[in-house]
Amino acid sequence: MKQYELINLKAYEDARGNLIAFEQGANCPFDVKRCFYIYDTKMADTVRGAHANRRSEFLLVVIHGSCKVRIDTGKEKDEVLLNSPKTALYLDKMVWKEMFDFSDGAVLMVLSNEKYDEKEYIRDYEKFLKEINN
Ligand code: TYD
Repeated sequence: MKQYELINLKAYEDARGNLIAFEQGANCPFDVKRCFYIYDTKMADTVRGAHANRRSEFLLVVIHGSCKVRIDTGKEKDEVLLNSPKTALYLDKMVWKEMFDFSDGAVLMVLSNEKYDEKEYIRDYEKFLKEINN
């Protein structure tokens, strides 16, 4: 996997509606230990994330609505739009991310290979750059 990568998800579509599954080794590059979702982002200028993680990798899927993600590997910056439940964004550890521009009613689901541990979060951008360059 690259440090960040968009993954097209296969949807099982029939007359009853659509279904998308994540399965380790198939479309999910890690064993899932954690899942959380962000919703009811009330303010138009809401920015979530704004951190890098020493151990956690993530798969982000906007399962309803849309949002944008600023990605910064310390060497490269990018911005992606997530506006389909059929697209997942993979983020490796030590990638700075900021999620913003949430549409009304957007639901962002996140899977991770690690349990929540505040100690592995880097919430200071300068500290992130320093760790990347060491
Ligand atoms: P925070 O890291 O600020 O969310 P985001 O990455 O979207 O900016 O987390 C908000 C709160 O939720 C904070 O008190 C920590 C808690 N939290 C957990 O308990 N478990 C988790 O897996 C996550 C991501 C957050």
